[in-house]
Amino acid sequence: MNTDLQVDSGRFQAEIDALAAISEASAPAVTRVLFSERDLEAREWIKSKCRELGLHIRADNVGNIFARWTGTEPNLPAIATGSHIDAIPNAGRYDGVVGVLGGLEAFRMLKAAGFVPRRSLELIVFTAEEPTRFGLGCLGSRLMSGTLAPDKAAELRDTDKISLTQWLERMEWGKPDLDSVRLSPGGYRAFVELHIEQGPLLEREKVDIGVVEKIAAPSAFRLRLEGSGGHAGGVLMPDRRDALTGACEIALAIEKAALESGSSDTVATTGVLRVEPGAINSIPFRVLMEVDLRDTDLAARDRVLDRIRKETAEICQRRNLSLTSEQINADPPAIASCELVDSILRHARESGYSARTMVSRAYHDSLFMAVLCPITMIFIPCRGGVSHRPDEYASPAQIAAGITTLAKALQDWSLSLV
Ligand code: HGY
Ligand code: MN
Ligand code: MN
Repeated sequence: MNTDLQVDSGRFQAEIDALAAISEASAPAVTRVLFSERDLEAREWIKSKCRELGLHIRADNVGNIFARWTGTEPNLPAIATGSHIDAIPNAGRYDGVVGVLGGLEAFRMLKAAGFVPRRSLELIVFTAEEPTRFGLGCLGSRLMSGTLAPDKAAELRDTDKISLTQWLERMEWGKPDLDSVRLSPGGYRAFVELHIEQGPLLEREKVDIGVVEKIAAPSAFRLRLEGSGGHAGGVLMPDRRDALTGACEIALAIEKAALESGSSDTVATTGVLRVEPGAINSIPFRVLMEVDLRDTDLAARDRVLDRIRKETAEICQRRNLSLTSEQINADPPAIASCELVDSILRHARESGYSARTMVSRAYHDSLFMAVLCPITMIFIPCRGGVSHRPDEYASPAQIAAGITTLAKALQDWSLSLV
């Protein structure tokens, strides 16, 4: 087993910066939304990097990219790593990207050290881990794992009412055929995702490597409230059916439900609020809210979902607002493989890094890869725990610790996992 694996941090940092420049937003913010010009450009850029390394590249019908380093026993289930390169509006340059470029760098290190894989090694770049385009996160890995039905996916529409199918027809990725995206189980022996923590724990505890044992259970829903609108001067307060003040009462009720859930892991966010007509002298007649609700404990999350449903209905009834609600997703948590968790802990510590197990409060494509094979994640600290902001940051040393641990695990698993 090669132990003298060296990360080329200069090259890595240059690639992080080059990819960050492929953005709909100006630096230091990064925005790269599914199907945007920049998303397509970034896909081609990452494929060219994989080609340079001699990996065998394929992309599926929804744009998931698979870059394979074929092993000496190519029919054995492969070892995979990877993450995403899409970025929400006004994001940072490390979320997802560290896992994609880190996987590529790990492959380079192993090749440079003369490693020959037994089980093939595969880097996966997942389509649309972020929910920005269609309101649903992990679109690519949901379809790969069969968690999302192709006919449901085809109907997804963005805020311009353009469907996934219509987008795919514009992409020239072949005739839209979402059934072909689903992978049969058994293709992978293990999956590990390198990612920034997107939380403060590792930095606060001065720990180099976090090993994920559980990924929180995400859910999201949409609420459309409708009142009667009207003239801001002519309609007296008792006569109003104001959709926005109703939405505000609901947003506060959601926050209260999360705070009172009895679980410190319950988190709820009303992240989208669209007001119509959006004129200062016109009473809001329609509001769209999109709410993100998670907990590592499924029962706690679902208790809060039920409470929010009841209280939302009561608020709309009392305020004489019409309500339509749509559950976007409500997924179970993912439990990592103890075998893989122990292996990552060992590789990190043998490399001289401090390491601990932890939960992931963010969701990741690993949540759905867990349907296909044993998974775990390697977390590195990020400054102040900050993410989904332009000031998101992980140092070259922190990133090198993650990549080195990843490379050693990939090498070990390719040779020795039965
Ligand atoms: O929202 C999340 O947890 C992930 O960063 N998309
Ligand atoms: Mn993210
Ligand atoms: Mn991410």
